[in-house]
Amino acid sequence: MSWDVLKPDINRRFIKFKDKSFYWKVKYYLSRPQYRTLFYYRCSISFKAKYFRVFFRKLYQINSEKFGLEIITHKMGGGVIMPHFGRIVINAEEVGNNLYIFHNVTIGNDYKTGRPTIGNNVFVGVNSVIIGKIAIGDNVVVAASSCVINNIPPNSLVAGNPAKVIKKINSDYITNMLGY
Ligand SMILES: CC(C)(COP(=O)(O)OP(=O)(O)OC[C@H]1O[C@@H](n2cnc3c(N)ncnc32)[C@H](O)[C@@H]1OP(=O)(O)O)[C@@H](O)C(=O)NCCC(=O)NCCS
Repeated sequence: MSWDVLKPDINRRFIKFKDKSFYWKVKYYLSRPQYRTLFYYRCSISFKAKYFRVFFRKLYQINSEKFGLEIITHKMGGGVIMPHFGRIVINAEEVGNNLYIFHNVTIGNDYKTGRPTIGNNVFVGVNSVIIGKIAIGDNVVVAASSCVINNIPPNSLVAGNPAKVIKKINSDYITNMLGY
């Protein structure tokens, strides 16, 4: 099991709760539907034993259907934050570390070129779409309700449909915005 990504997932979620025990964090983490679904997904692709993979796949499917979170991305770094649940599709070639993704977001195939590759420290605002075989660089903010169909260079804030770079941002822009 890939604890190397589960641990950063949990640590980032509870970065402001450093005094709490790891047990408390895991219990609270799994009580939230979006994180539980992510956890089952990670288990369903990580365990070596096929029996466990099938078991967690079933749990993932039940939760995925119930809470509207679909993940079809084997290479996904740790530190994923999903403040809310409801219609999130993550269908990418690869996602880096510290993805921050709101609800009603689709990352997926444009049925022309393929699926996106998402860098590290990417923030995706509510109601956004990122489609096609494009590369989203590190430290990118996708503003709410954007439709991203072109490559985005690192350290950029993009908005609109089709999304365009509105301004260049520092590598600590997202940390400053979130407060962690
Ligand atoms: C992008 C965002 C982070 C603001 O960043 P910011 O650095 O404060 O940017 P500003 O507000 O200074 O805006 C910069 C420019 O982008 C534009 N802009 C900001 N958000 C935009 C959006 N969602 N769509 C289109 N343009 C947008 C602003 O109008 C401004 O344009 P101007 O320079 O012509 O006046 C914020 O607007 C956003 O979309 N946050 C996501 C929040 C979210 O998803 N919340 C879900 C809660 S459940």
